[in-house]
Amino acid sequence: MPPRARRLAAPLAAFLVGLVALLIAAYLTFAPSPRMTTASAVGGPFSLTAGDGRAVTEKDFLGTPHLVFFGFTHCPDVCPTKLFELSEMLRALGSKGAKVRALFITVDPERDTPAVMKSYGSSFDPRIVGLTGDRAQIDAVVRAYRAYAKKVPLKDGDYTMEHTSLVYLMDKDGRFIGSFNVERPPAQAAQDLLRYL
Ligand code: NI
Repeated sequence: MPPRARRLAAPLAAFLVGLVALLIAAYLTFAPSPRMTTASAVGGPFSLTAGDGRAVTEKDFLGTPHLVFFGFTHCPDVCPTKLFELSEMLRALGSKGAKVRALFITVDPERDTPAVMKSYGSSFDPRIVGLTGDRAQIDAVVRAYRAYAKKVPLKDGDYTMEHTSLVYLMDKDGRFIGSFNVERPPAQAAQDLLRYL
């Protein structure tokens, strides 16, 4: 090896080692890892019934960002409050958000028949879509969203439901973006949602 080449060999080797290290670091940072895939696997296919008795699936809501939340019509305070906040946010969205839908999925299908969902929903923004189904369909969608719902007996023989109060923000392809905060001024929440349109 000529002296000049020998002088260059060491820095060149160091440079190549550095470059390889950089490429590995970049790959580890940007390549989708299995853990990220699992974390984003919230949501997915479902088969439910709308208030008018129509069968609906997740495909009916693709093409525009949408919100999903779980509840039940006998809920004393959390659900009605959330439905009210969502209605205010949807009103603030105005016509720009005409296609936006908020899916209100009951965790109490025994009492929340399509007719009950329809009548309950009429007090709120029409872009809120009340959905029910049979017990197996509801259990499946609760599982798909990694949500939680549990029947809790009351003293008088009645029961209430404990449930996840998270509002899920899904993108136009039905992928989970994150939880959506509705406990803020409606215009601010609307502005946030508009970013995903
Ligand atoms: Ni509730």
